[in-house]
Amino acid sequence: MTAGTAPEAPSFARSLLRTKPVDRIVAEGGQGEGGELKRTMSLLQLTFFSVGATLGTGIFVVLGEAVPLAGPAVVLSFVLAAVTALFSALSYAELAGTIPVSGSSYSYSYATLGELVAWVCGWCLLLEYAVSVSAVAVGWGSYLNAFFDAAFGFTIPDAVSGPPGEGGLVNIPAVVVVVLATLLLLRGTSESATANTVMVFLKIGVLLFFCAVAFTAFESGNLSAFTPMGWAGISAAGGKVFFSYIGFDAASTAGEEARNPRRDLPLAIVLSLLIVTVLYVLVGLAAVAAMHWERFEVSGAEASLAEVLDVATGKSWPSMVLALGAVIAIASVVLTVMYGQTRILFAMSRDGLVPDVFQKVSPARRVPVANTLIVAVFIGVLAAVVPLGRLVDATSIGTLFAFALVSVGVIVLRRTQPDLPRSFRTPLFPVTPLLGVGFCVYLMVGLGGVTWTVFALWTAVGLAAYFLYGRRHSRLAAGPPRDPARKGL
Ligand code: ALA
Repeated sequence: MTAGTAPEAPSFARSLLRTKPVDRIVAEGGQGEGGELKRTMSLLQLTFFSVGATLGTGIFVVLGEAVPLAGPAVVLSFVLAAVTALFSALSYAELAGTIPVSGSSYSYSYATLGELVAWVCGWCLLLEYAVSVSAVAVGWGSYLNAFFDAAFGFTIPDAVSGPPGEGGLVNIPAVVVVVLATLLLLRGTSESATANTVMVFLKIGVLLFFCAVAFTAFESGNLSAFTPMGWAGISAAGGKVFFSYIGFDAASTAGEEARNPRRDLPLAIVLSLLIVTVLYVLVGLAAVAAMHWERFEVSGAEASLAEVLDVATGKSWPSMVLALGAVIAIASVVLTVMYGQTRILFAMSRDGLVPDVFQKVSPARRVPVANTLIVAVFIGVLAAVVPLGRLVDATSIGTLFAFALVSVGVIVLRRTQPDLPRSFRTPLFPVTPLLGVGFCVYLMVGLGGVTWTVFALWTAVGLAAYFLYGRRHSRLAAGPPRDPARKGL
């Protein structure tokens, strides 16, 4: 089959494997029904978009869970998880520079592995983005309460700050953060990116403040037994802290709104990973040097960073600054991840796989308004009334699956289209993408039976949706575009 053309009578299997030609994907970039998206995002904004989506709940809670597993060597666990993330990040960087559109791994899969895999990938991204952001919005409420408690001595009552089943009726703070993010997204991408950049500066500032305070209590004796649990502990903690790296791929959903996507997307992805890695290693080192590692188990996950500051200063105001940092950090995750979800649906809608309403661009704002509102209602309702704890693990498996597909995509595209212009090439090909796939599969296997069951059910529902809707409306199946000479990059 010639890639992307619609054969007269495609066999069933062939139709599922049809790929969308890269030049067609790129030529359609930016185009929606009713108008084009606006190219406003600079390298700094793109990098901070990825940092905004990455630096969130993870670093604020993960140490309390990871330090008891690895001891002070948790610092090495952060490096291990960063190396794992780096293999995927390099694959993302190559494909984002080659296919600089907004669909992220969904669009890359469409170009390399065919429509069915692309659909499944897009469906998994719904887990990585929409479902996870609902869970993150729920977490925002807890941090808001921690901040109110530390600053003003009151908390929002449980009835209106938790979903049914978890002691509440409705989670109002979760809805508030979703509404705030929606209002910003509707104002425009440039405004959202600017607000995110400010929030990212603030959250980096708060984490550096944490390091500065914690380093004043540096106690080399706390590091003397550096690897009490050996390699097994370092690797187990590495699996835990991997969560805090998820999100570096967010810039790959902004390909159609970047000023210079071929140059800036790969750079933004790799730079954001470097920035968060340096921060995480610093925070980890400052924490275990200030407080003996065995105390982390006692202090409990959520309070561990605050406890380090209490130990370091003997005062309570630093914890308040930290809680404020968490509130800002998580708000920026909600903003950037919601943005990513709308742009992935935008790309899927342009391909006909989800309804047209998702690709309608408002001529005035140059953003997909209806799409943003639908995504906001979905996320808001989920966050307000569904206890999401169990779904959170499922988001990791969906994310890892998408990451693995991107590395497979790099290998496939190098073989099928070796001469395609690539602004960034993954070094040490094919070792790097192969390791990328290997690490993702390894982490997926470790995720346990319940998570796999949820993932299998989710995929089954997705497949049903594809056969009932997507496959019948696929634009690729309908043949080449009417105006193939549309603007490309
Ligand atoms: N990396 C994101 C966080 O830690 C998912 O919140």
